[in-house]
Amino acid sequence: MFFPPNPPITSFAGQRIWIAGASTGIGAATAKAFIAAGARVAVSARTADTLEREFGEHARVLPCDVTDAAALQAAANTLIAEWGGIDLVIAMAGTYSTMRADTLDLAAAKRIVEVNLNGVFNLFAAVRTQLLAQRSGGFAIVASVAGYGGLPNSMAYSATKAACINLAQSMWMDLRAHGIAVTVINPGFVRTPLTATNPFPMPFLIDADEAAREILKGLARGEFEIHFPKAFSRLLKLLNLLPHGLYLRLVKKGTRM
Ligand SMILES: NC(=O)c1ccc[n+]([C@@H]2O[C@H](COP(=O)([O-])OP(=O)(O)OC[C@H]3O[C@@H](n4cnc5c(N)ncnc54)[C@H](OP(=O)(O)O)[C@@H]3O)[C@@H](O)[C@H]2O)c1
Repeated sequence: MFFPPNPPITSFAGQRIWIAGASTGIGAATAKAFIAAGARVAVSARTADTLEREFGEHARVLPCDVTDAAALQAAANTLIAEWGGIDLVIAMAGTYSTMRADTLDLAAAKRIVEVNLNGVFNLFAAVRTQLLAQRSGGFAIVASVAGYGGLPNSMAYSATKAACINLAQSMWMDLRAHGIAVTVINPGFVRTPLTATNPFPMPFLIDADEAAREILKGLARGEFEIHFPKAFSRLLKLLNLLPHGLYLRLVKKGTRM
């Protein structure tokens, strides 16, 4: 890329990286990939046992819930005091359940918004002052290709991921002059606990390790949007260029939902 939207990360060695949502799935695989590349990594999630079992002394374990802004702020303060700064923060925590408009579960919908969207605001609020003071570092949001356009059976989840993509664009523009990189990561289907109970076939399904490799590659290149697997993400991008009437009918028919 000739003019990458973010500064390319030429080496992850020594980079101070905090991932919120790293106990399982893509977050755990990405944290391990960063550790293997020589980064100093801190991992958060609600389940302290899983974090300890997965990472032990290989990462700084800071259990916390992204819906608890005060707990995130305390974790950020601890980390900044120990590290003296922070180079990359990844909002990875997410939750998903199928949900249809005709059988809306309002409490579950609000819970998904609380974790997938408000959790990102909470995390950014916790590190904003430090990143602005440094005039360096990056903030990455894990959204999804499900955020490109509305999908059947995915009412709340898809909406939060669309919001995350939009949020990352706004943040990039606002933070550019402050020297802070902003990235959005849009995975397709990845084999993780989140998708383990999906009752439908998942096209172009990949493993979490492959997702992690794509994420590190995209960050190294300074991409704004890291999307994968390309065959699937590009197909969905194309579908979303269609007029609404065509998109809605094609996706409904194609997914048989
Ligand atoms: N798998 C896919 O196909 C796919 C596709 C596109 C996007 N994504 C996105 O990728 C991200 C990672 O998902 P995944 O597939 O790797 O799922 P996962 O294995 O279920 O991982 C989710 C992570 O988030 C943590 N988490 C959930 N709620 C949290 C909360 N309130 N506070 C703090 N941590 C919380 C979980 O740990 P605890 O439960 O211990 O808190 C876990 O570490 C999510 O944002 C997801 O939406 C996944």
